Amino acid sequence: MTTYITTPIYYVNAQPHLGHAYTTIVADTYSRFRRLCGENVRFQTGTDEHGDKIVEAAEKENVPPGEYVDKISKMFRDTWPLLEVAPDNYIRTTDVQHIATVRDILQKVYDSGDIYFDEYTGLYCRGCERFLTEKELVDGNCPDHQIPPQEIAEQNYFFRMSSYQQQLIDHIRNNPDFITPERYRNEVLSFLSEPLEDLCISRPKSRLTWGIELPFDDNFVTYVWFDALINYLTGLGFPEGDDYNTFWPFSEHVIAKDILKPHAIYWPTMLMSMGVPLYKKLHVHGYWNVDDTKMSKSIGNVVRPRQLVDEYGIDTLRYFVLREMSFGLDSSFSSDAIVTRQNADLANDLGNLYSRTMAMVLKYQGGIISGPGTPEVEDEAFREAVELMIPGYREAMADFCFHRALQIVWDIISMANKYIVVNEPWALAKDPENAERLDTVLYNLLECLRIVSLVLQPIMPIASTRMAVGLGLTADSEEARFFDAGGRWGVLVPGSRVRPGGPLFPRLEGRKKDKDKKKKSDGSGMKKAEKIEQSEEDLVSFDVFQKLDLRVAEIVAAKPVKKSSKLLKLTVKAPEMRTIVSGIAEYYQPSELVGQQVVIVANLKPVKIMGVVSQGMILTAGEKIDGKERLVLSTVSDIVAVGSRIG
Ligand code: MSP
Repeated sequence: MTTYITTPIYYVNAQPHLGHAYTTIVADTYSRFRRLCGENVRFQTGTDEHGDKIVEAAEKENVPPGEYVDKISKMFRDTWPLLEVAPDNYIRTTDVQHIATVRDILQKVYDSGDIYFDEYTGLYCRGCERFLTEKELVDGNCPDHQIPPQEIAEQNYFFRMSSYQQQLIDHIRNNPDFITPERYRNEVLSFLSEPLEDLCISRPKSRLTWGIELPFDDNFVTYVWFDALINYLTGLGFPEGDDYNTFWPFSEHVIAKDILKPHAIYWPTMLMSMGVPLYKKLHVHGYWNVDDTKMSKSIGNVVRPRQLVDEYGIDTLRYFVLREMSFGLDSSFSSDAIVTRQNADLANDLGNLYSRTMAMVLKYQGGIISGPGTPEVEDEAFREAVELMIPGYREAMADFCFHRALQIVWDIISMANKYIVVNEPWALAKDPENAERLDTVLYNLLECLRIVSLVLQPIMPIASTRMAVGLGLTADSEEARFFDAGGRWGVLVPGSRVRPGGPLFPRLEGRKKDKDKKKKSDGSGMKKAEKIEQSEEDLVSFDVFQKLDLRVAEIVAAKPVKKSSKLLKLTVKAPEMRTIVSGIAEYYQPSELVGQQVVIVANLKPVKIMGVVSQGMILTAGEKIDGKERLVLSTVSDIVAVGSRIG
């Protein structure tokens, strides 16, 4: 099987933002998914560099258009690796080969009689770079740019788009998947229910020189859309070359709804006139707003990919946009939304599953993966659920329903978390008679994590690779890269060793607010309230400090303390078992604590708190955000033997 996936080529009149990043992440994710399925994949993106808008932007910066487009095109190109986006080809419409092929195509279409010269008076929107029909206007304005179009009368060349109207309608009707989701297919069919006009495909040089000269009339340059759409072919070396023959029959374009008409109407009719088979699929997504407001330079709310990666990390950004947007519908970005997803889905659900499982394999089995033992009915059910996830996930990914695919994966993650709670590996570990049962439970958890890491590969390539390596696989092994080798149960080899590394995802709570606070502080990066004036008598000697018995302990059970909203009763191992009452109930769920390593003060005098004797104290870091206290557990940077002394 083969796939050719493309993004729109972006105008170089603006720098990359969240909208461009989303489309490109979608195309990258899909290409990685198809590779996981063992397919031959080509993924292309690039830049659209001719036309009015570009000239205007270059003029604003006072540089020649050639210099300007080189700069912004490079900016787009340099952005993609920051998001782990890895295109196979990056095309520019100023590439010599692209220009030559566009001219050849124009000449052929002209020779076939599908291009004619005529006078035209129309309403032209510079923002859209096209003539608008009266019907499209809202209160006399272009609906996208909120400005009135200019009335322009001039002689131009026209493409006989109207002669392909019926052929296009038939094609869309006969191929239900040609344009998806369905609402956009319906939109196009409804547009085509009215007579289609011919397309003006030239601009007189008196008005625009920055474009591809028409091969049959050097007084004109090519209309930017007739030039830009052809990139999908020139990027394959059309009309010659193996790449064109190999990939074009499997071409799928990803765009947003703003450029539906050029892709669903101009492009297929151009292909019909050229005698080239139509692309296979057009995938249309909605628009990203920011805090429920349209993203715009004038409002000052444009979100840049580089800034998002710095703030939240690559995997979190990719996960967030794919999980949050239902493909086809609009969605809103906000810092709160991404922080919530990071903490709930990534740090809590997935991160904890991974670290708890790893911690138990290290502790109970010395880091060596044991055999699957003899599975019981509930183990078989768990395994079946994990295996069943794969077809559902594959179908959703193939249909561009990324949010649904991720829901399926998270259902499995929460099932695995419950599997831990039900099977209580820490209790099994107490009795050597349960050793085989413990092996089975831990093996199943590791296998589940391995399959989760495999299906997350297209979405979160970095975390997925870390998980695979943590589970003892090599990053480029067949098992970590292909469904054929890795998409079945029982791949982990008993006797191999886990290599967990640190936590997969940090918790992000309050990070943004902290940054704001830092800005307001004295520049030391330390909040004012935290500065502590210390006098001589506040200082303690080393001897006094040494009297404190600080140790690493593992939480093995956690329960709320009756009648208290703040306290949790924790059973910890350090290495002897003890009970500690801690005031962290507002910040942690009991279930997310089990398996975590923490730092305790082991030689505090026992005290009775709410009827429970507390034998020590768990160390936490406390901070105040907007007057509200927040506590996080103080922990160690790698898993160590419980009871290890801290000093
Ligand atoms: N140059 C044309 C495309 C030619 S393709 C042959 C163009 N360029 S653009 O820079 O304006 O990019 C438009 C595309 O950027 C949208 O179709 C979408 O992929 C992406 N997005 C730009 N803003 C967006 C949002 N706010 N939300 C989601 N995606 C958006 O049109």
